[in-house]
Amino acid sequence: MRRPIVVGNWKMNGRRASVDHLIAGLRAVGGVDVAVCPPAIFIRQVVEGLGGKGIGVGAQDVSLYEQDGAYTGEVSASMLSDAGCSYVIVGHSERRALCGETDEDVARKFANALRAGLCPILCVGETLEEREQGVTESVVARQLDAVLGVSGVAAFERALIAYEPVWAIGTGRTATPEQAQQVHAFIRARLAAHDAGVASRARIQYGGSMKPENAAELMAMPDIDGGLIGGASLKAEDFMAICAAAGGAA
Ligand code: 13P
Repeated sequence: MRRPIVVGNWKMNGRRASVDHLIAGLRAVGGVDVAVCPPAIFIRQVVEGLGGKGIGVGAQDVSLYEQDGAYTGEVSASMLSDAGCSYVIVGHSERRALCGETDEDVARKFANALRAGLCPILCVGETLEEREQGVTESVVARQLDAVLGVSGVAAFERALIAYEPVWAIGTGRTATPEQAQQVHAFIRARLAAHDAGVASRARIQYGGSMKPENAAELMAMPDIDGGLIGGASLKAEDFMAICAAAGGAA
């Protein structure tokens, strides 16, 4: 049985005071793994503020470069680990679209994260245009295969996948449980083509307008193992309600 995992992606939101307020409202939930990914500048504040609460901390991105050196503005995987992170999101669609991240970049970041002992959260998902063209599966396959090619299937014993349809992110338009399940099952089958055991254990989160009202029905689907939560993770009460729904699905 896969243990659900709910991760909050705070994106570029917060100030020191609002971060303190948010972490005060977070607590561990039985039967489910919980983590939050604040902006890098707040990572230490969150690690210290959540100390002992049993909630993991992650980053939203990691450098392509592995070794310390002349890479102005970059934060390496090893630095994230040293700061107390256990997770890092890689290949979020906002970074792919706004920062021009390629599948190859994402595969490198994923490998860097693993080597630093972090659990990468690989985001995959199609745009609305791609869904309407009927190429959802080939897009997700291409994004997944880039990482499989570099890190191999065994890496998914120590990594998470988040299926985030771009058209559902921040739009209030959630994928139906059936739409999401279909892609989750496709992703698992793609892993299973390499290693059925790894595929059966790999955790695949759904992300895209998940909220307390729809979390339970999404996470009741057989291949949906939790959520990657944007907007609703900025309100402790909503985030905790989603975690409780995941615990109920466990
Ligand atoms: P929303 O929950 O705001 O739609 O964002 C989802 C997301 O992008 C999480 O990474």
